[in-house]
Amino acid sequence: MHIKNTGFGLLLAGLLAFAGGIHLAQGQGITVNYDEAKVGTYTLPDPLRLPDGTAVTTARQWEQQARPDVLNLFKEHVYGQMPAKPAGLRFKIRNENKNALNGLATRKQVTIYFTPAADAPSMEVLLYIPNKVQGPVPAFVGLNFYGNQSIHPDKGILLPTRWVNNNPKGVVNNKATEASRGLQASRWPVEELMKQGFALVTAYYGDLEPDHVDGWKTGIRTTLNDELKIKEDEWGAIGAWAWGLSRIMDYLEKDKSINAGQVALTGHSRIGKAALWAAANDNRFALVISNDSGEGGAALARRNYGETIAQINRSFPHWFNPTYKNYNQAPEKMPVDQHMLLALMAPRPLYVNSALEDQWADPRGEFLSALQAEPVYQLYQKKGLGVTEMPPVEKPVGETIGYHIRNGKHDINAYDWQQHIAFAQKHFKKKAKPKS
Ligand code: GCU
Repeated sequence: MHIKNTGFGLLLAGLLAFAGGIHLAQGQGITVNYDEAKVGTYTLPDPLRLPDGTAVTTARQWEQQARPDVLNLFKEHVYGQMPAKPAGLRFKIRNENKNALNGLATRKQVTIYFTPAADAPSMEVLLYIPNKVQGPVPAFVGLNFYGNQSIHPDKGILLPTRWVNNNPKGVVNNKATEASRGLQASRWPVEELMKQGFALVTAYYGDLEPDHVDGWKTGIRTTLNDELKIKEDEWGAIGAWAWGLSRIMDYLEKDKSINAGQVALTGHSRIGKAALWAAANDNRFALVISNDSGEGGAALARRNYGETIAQINRSFPHWFNPTYKNYNQAPEKMPVDQHMLLALMAPRPLYVNSALEDQWADPRGEFLSALQAEPVYQLYQKKGLGVTEMPPVEKPVGETIGYHIRNGKHDINAYDWQQHIAFAQKHFKKKAKPKS
C-alpha cells in the first residue's frame, strides 16, 4: 500500500498552527511537523501478505497464519510480551451498595488479587450496574487516570492509596485526597450509561504501574516477575495496563449481573493505546473504542505528523518494549504499523475517534489507519468506514469500523460517548429492557 498525502486546506492549516503552539512544548525541543505537505510518502506493510509473500485471502488463513504472526511482531517490536492469567488470581467483593446514585445503580467495589499471598499485588475495580433494566447487562470497561473516585463525586467510592499523578484538583504529593472526587467526571457519563442499560467498570491504571519512569519498580512488572515468569524489560507500562484490563475481564466472566459476551473496551489517549493492545491480545473484549489514542495507538507511525516514535520514547521511555526505540529515527523499518494493530480487532466492531484540536495525535493518521484495517474486516464480509476521505467534523461514519472527528481538544466528552453508546447499541443489537 502506497499512500500519497494530499493537501489539507487553509482552515486546517490555521488550526494546525494553533495546535502546534501547544504541542511544540510536548515535543521537548524536537521539531514537530504539523504541515500535511511535509508528511511525504510512505509504504505501509500489508497485513494480508505472509512473510513468504503469499497473499492472505480467507478469514481462516488470516486467523491461522497471518494474525498470530502480526500479534507476535507487535510484541517483539512495540509493546513487549503479554503474560497469561496468573494461576492464583482471586477476587474479593469489598462492598456493594444496591442503592447507589439515588437508586439508579448498584455500586460494587472488587479487589482483584494477582496471587494467593496475603500481601498479593492487587487492583481495585469499581462497577456501576443499572438497577432498572433486565440483566445480565452489557458493559463499558476502561481504566482511569486519577483513581476510581475521580470518575464521579459519589462519596462511597474508595480512594486509591497508591501513587497518583499530581493534580491541582485534589492530588497532593502524589496522594489522592477527598477533593479529587469527580475530578474527571466529565469523562465518565455514569448516569447516562445506567439509563441506556450499560454497566460501567473501571480501575485506576496506576494500580498496575504508576505512570512515571520509575513506576515499574513498584508496579506489576516487578512485583509479579516470578508469578508471571517475565522480566521487567520484556514489556512496558502500556503492556502492564493492558494486562490489567484482561484481569478485569476475568472478573466480569464471574459476575452474573454482567453479560461478559458484550463488553465494550474503551480508552482515552495513553489508556486508549492500552485498550487497543489489550483487545489485540484478548478476544473476549467484544467491541473496542479508541479515543484520541494517537501515536502508539490508532495513528499510523509512518506518517510524520504530530507526535512521532522518537518523541513518545523520549517523553515516556517506560511505555513500550525497549525494542521500540530502534525505530525512533526509522519508523519505516518497523515490520508493522498501527493499521495492523487495528486489524487485530477484526471481525469485532471497532470505533476510532479523533478531536480537531488534538493534532498531536494526528487525526488524519488515525482515520487512515482505520481505513487501512478494512481489508482484514473484508475477509469476514464486514463493512468498514464506507468512505475513503476523512468525514466532516461531527459526522460519524462507518459500519463495523466506525470513526468520527469532533470539535475541541484532546479529551473524551459527551459527544464522544454518545457515538460510542450508539455504536455499542447497534452492534450488541439490544436496547435496555426495563425490569418488570
Ligand atoms: C501525551 C503523549 C500522548 C498521549 C497523551 C495522553 O500527550 O505524548 O502519546 O496519548 O499524553 O495520554 O494524554
